[in-house]
Amino acid sequence: MLSRYQGRGLGTLLFKLLVEYARGCGFKNFVGWISENNIGSIKNVERNGFVRTKESRIVHLAAFNRDDVFYKYLCKL
Ligand SMILES: CC(C)(COP(=O)(O)OP(=O)(O)OC[C@H]1O[C@@H](n2cnc3c(N)ncnc32)[C@H](O)[C@@H]1OP(=O)(O)O)[C@@H](O)C(=O)NCCC(=O)NCCS
Repeated sequence: MLSRYQGRGLGTLLFKLLVEYARGCGFKNFVGWISENNIGSIKNVERNGFVRTKESRIVHLAAFNRDDVFYKYLCKL
């Protein structure tokens, strides 16, 4: 999201719509892998019923030349 639109609740709202759409399509689970450093996205998904699982993986982010730990988040629809 463009920086000038961040922090206004739009990310949380868009994710809510995405979860509702997935539920409407009949999906039972919604999974996302999120970097532990991505605080905004973590707040977005946790506010929409996602919980962090014990699964994680290390991903090399070439663009930033660093490794991040990504956690698997699960939402039971
Ligand atoms: C992550 C992102 C999609 C969240 O959307 P958003 O519209 O900003 O989120 P919301 O306004 O619904 O709120 C998210 C919460 O996270 C916080 N937050 C957002 N970005 C943050 C950051 N970089 N660091 C710390 N907190 C952050 C907001 O302050 C808000 O917290 P609060 O309500 O307790 O004050 C958006 O900020 C963004 O595009 N960020 C930059 C790119 C990025 O990180 N994309 C995700 C890569 S997969």
